[in-house]
Amino acid sequence: MADQNQILSTRHLLGIKDLNEKDIQLIFETADTFKDVLNRPIKKVPSLRDITIANIFFENSTRTRLSFELAQKRLSADTINFAASSSSVSKGETLIDTVNNILAMKVDMVVMRHPYPGAGIFLSKRVKAQIVNAGDGAHEHPTQALLDAFSIREKYGDVAGKKVAIIGDILHSRVALSNILCLQKLGAEVMVCGPTTLIPKYIKTLGVKVEFDLMKALNWCDVANMLRIQLERQDIKYFPSLREYSMLYGLNKNILDSLDKEITVMHPGPINRGVEITSDVADSKQSIILDQVENGVAVRMAVLYLLAGQK
Ligand code: CP
Repeated sequence: MADQNQILSTRHLLGIKDLNEKDIQLIFETADTFKDVLNRPIKKVPSLRDITIANIFFENSTRTRLSFELAQKRLSADTINFAASSSSVSKGETLIDTVNNILAMKVDMVVMRHPYPGAGIFLSKRVKAQIVNAGDGAHEHPTQALLDAFSIREKYGDVAGKKVAIIGDILHSRVALSNILCLQKLGAEVMVCGPTTLIPKYIKTLGVKVEFDLMKALNWCDVANMLRIQLERQDIKYFPSLREYSMLYGLNKNILDSLDKEITVMHPGPINRGVEITSDVADSKQSIILDQVENGVAVRMAVLYLLAGQK
């Protein structure tokens, strides 16, 4: 376990912007220990035995919700789960009222996914519980970025100096912003690539390279993180058709094999097979997509454990 005297510089995890490099390295070292625990026959530790955590999801999720739940169970926390679609939110209850009712049941920590950017920040200023952002609209998805960077570190030994291309729908992606901030704090070079309509104009101010040609991006990078087209957040058409997008920005095995070096392929999921990535790439030995999912549990255990130490 990480040194008990080492603590995070933040009481909540609202975004990567609130973490410094030391925080991220502490999360990784703690996750290393928890990954060892997860590979033992008995995968459970009593670290959060006295902690109650509410997982409140106002948006759909498979990986993040299950990964947080499993992380909590492995740490022996008590958990309650809330899905907005089957709750009184549909009867007009506000976010604050919903959360205050949950907190009245003596909950210590809230893991929240919400469609509105800044929902976690809003909540953290109004309730006593610690808040973990599990994705807020197109803003941040900090634990996804942490598990992505942890997976790059596991593959290459270090994130510093690596060239990472984030390819696809950057405009609507919370994964892109959190990844950019996290990778840069760890010393990686970051490029974004996609159609002009899906690359926000402000992106250069973050210090990333911008490329509109997929082959140039792939030839530059060590790691390609392929993002999904977020049709659910697109109110207008940003490109003519998924078929055309796939022809210009989809990664297939022929392209992968034509590169001069062997790059690593990542994807935060859910994958749209045949759109941003073909099945033979997703399932190839260059893909670490399932390693990302596996590492997500250890990284989320580390985040919850370290935040609980802040109480
Ligand atoms: N990567 C990710 O956030 O997946 P879910 O939407 O399934 O949680």
